[in-house]
Amino acid sequence: MEQTIIIEHLEPKVWPWCKIEYESISQIIPKNNLWFTNIRYEEEFLKNLGKVSKESIIDMKLEKACILDPNAKETLTPKDAKQFKYFIIGGILGDYPPKKRTKEELTDKLHNIPARNLGKKQFSTDNAVYVLKKIIDGTPLNKLQFQNKITIKINEVESVDLPYYYPLINGKPRISEKLITFLKNKKDF
Ligand SMILES: C[S@@+](CC[C@H](N)C(=O)[O-])C[C@H]1O[C@@H](n2cnc3c(N)ncnc32)[C@H](O)[C@@H]1O
Repeated sequence: MEQTIIIEHLEPKVWPWCKIEYESISQIIPKNNLWFTNIRYEEEFLKNLGKVSKESIIDMKLEKACILDPNAKETLTPKDAKQFKYFIIGGILGDYPPKKRTKEELTDKLHNIPARNLGKKQFSTDNAVYVLKKIIDGTPLNKLQFQNKITIKINEVESVDLPYYYPLINGKPRISEKLITFLKNKKDF
C-alpha cells in the first residue's frame, strides 16, 4: 500500500469503543501505513497498531492530503484517490443525528486540504476506512453494498440499534466481534 491513512483522534479520551474501532482499522491497514494523531492517552496500546503522534493534523503541513467528510460535496472515486498520498479520517464516535463534527473540527480548519465523501450516510470510523480502502483499491462506491442500521440483540429482552451505514461482506454487515461482545457487556445505553 502506498497511501497513509491518518486517524485524527477527536474524542476527549481514547474510550474502549474507540480502541475497538482502531483495532478493527489495523486489520484493514498495514501498521506502516496507519497513523494516529492528536493522541494524549493510550499511546502504548496504539503503538501496536500504527505510528502515534501527540501533534494534531491541523499543525502538520501535509501535501497531497484528502479529508474524508460525509458533508463534503464530491464523492471519492478510485481515479480521484490516486492523486492523494494521505487520507485523513476523524477519530469521532458515531452520533445520531450527525453533528457535522468532521466538517467543524477538520474540514473547516484545514482550508487548503480538499474533502471528499464516501456517500452522505454516516459510517463508523473503521467502516469508513474499510470503504476508503475498497475505493483506493479500485472499487467505486456504487459497486459496494450497504445496509442502513443494525440491531444487536443483547439478551432475550434487550437489543441496541446502531443507526449507521454498514458495508456488507458476503451479505453480512461489517462489525467487529469485539464490539458486539462489548455492547453485550455494557450495562447502560
Ligand atoms: C462516525 S464518523 C463521525 C461523523 C460525524 N457524526 C460527523 O457528522 O461528521 C467518523 C469518521 O468517519 C469518516 N466518515 C464516516 N462516514 C463518512 C462518509 N459518508 N463520507 C466520508 N467520511 C465518512 C469521517 O472521516 C468521520 O470523521
